[in-house]
Amino acid sequence: MNQLTKPTEGSVTWQTPSNIALVKYWGKHGVQLPINPSLSITLRQSTTTTEIKYQTGSDKLTVDFLFEGKPELSFGERIKKFLSAQISVYPVLKELHLKISSSNTFPHSSGIASSASAFSALSLCILSVVRKISPNQGERDFLEEASELARLGSGSAGRSIYAGYVVWGEMKEYKAYSDYFAVPVQTKIHPDFQDMQDAILIVNSGRKKVGSSAGHNLMAGHPYLKARIDQARKNMNDLHSVLSSGDQSRFIAIVENEALSLHGLMLASNPGYLLMEESTYKIIEDIRTFRSETGVPLCFTLDAGPNVHLLYPDKEKGRVKGFIKDHLIRYCSNGQWIDDGMGEGPRELQA
Ligand code: PMV
Repeated sequence: MNQLTKPTEGSVTWQTPSNIALVKYWGKHGVQLPINPSLSITLRQSTTTTEIKYQTGSDKLTVDFLFEGKPELSFGERIKKFLSAQISVYPVLKELHLKISSSNTFPHSSGIASSASAFSALSLCILSVVRKISPNQGERDFLEEASELARLGSGSAGRSIYAGYVVWGEMKEYKAYSDYFAVPVQTKIHPDFQDMQDAILIVNSGRKKVGSSAGHNLMAGHPYLKARIDQARKNMNDLHSVLSSGDQSRFIAIVENEALSLHGLMLASNPGYLLMEESTYKIIEDIRTFRSETGVPLCFTLDAGPNVHLLYPDKEKGRVKGFIKDHLIRYCSNGQWIDDGMGEGPRELQA
């Protein structure tokens, strides 16, 4: 007897962090494939928790989605579309009724990109459900497969499946890297980079003026496309050497170059657009002054928005937090900042 003729039900829950890219993924081709390799750190504080209650025996895939306890129809539709596109790979999906509940640790309107944590948590849950009800689909490495699924939902989400420094995108120098899924970085990490902290200063908590999907699309036909791909590849290779040698000043130069280049690409897109705000510029200038006056190896990176991520080694926590509280806090919207950093990666929560 087909085991699916007998309805089964159960639930799975995963908690998954967001990540911040040091070398940025910007531009894609084909089905969510990156035009250049990227490297990120997976955070600990900014997480999404997703629970899926599933029931087999449905005559089609149905999805109810609750965000922070309330129905969220538009994201529910996006999830349904994403999962419907996976039915050819996971036929069992078409017989499932899914009740998905999700919540974030970071404030809803903090301007933190939630798609990386959201799609990685969702993909880990979906793959757990699929493997529970059709165990013969479990031949491939679980995390690799979850990363591929997450990438199809949101490119950067594929990197949130692993803790630490994570790479997504082929590099001819490293055979393990793939355009289809992310993997942990394939180099030894110097002790000075093993406990990287990330203070996220919230400059503007509103929705982004231009979303990342539109931004990726503007890279097609971008006048700097070829130069950008070359730059990202070089920064990836250099960052690999720096992560193992422990060279702080090269690390800072590469990370800040990537952040400003990302926004430079937006400025030079057609149409061009600007996501940095006055406070973003002020924070950047003040970080550079603080660094040259104190010698603290503090640097910044930016996502596709105005908020600023301050990266620094754990041993500098006291001085950096003092600098934020005494000075930078004036640029934060309602004094908001998130004390984040590298963490343990996703974890499955028991019911
Ligand atoms: O994963 P997406 O489609 O939200 O794009 C993420 C793009 C950046 O955050 C700007 C860079 C990156 O590599 O995460």
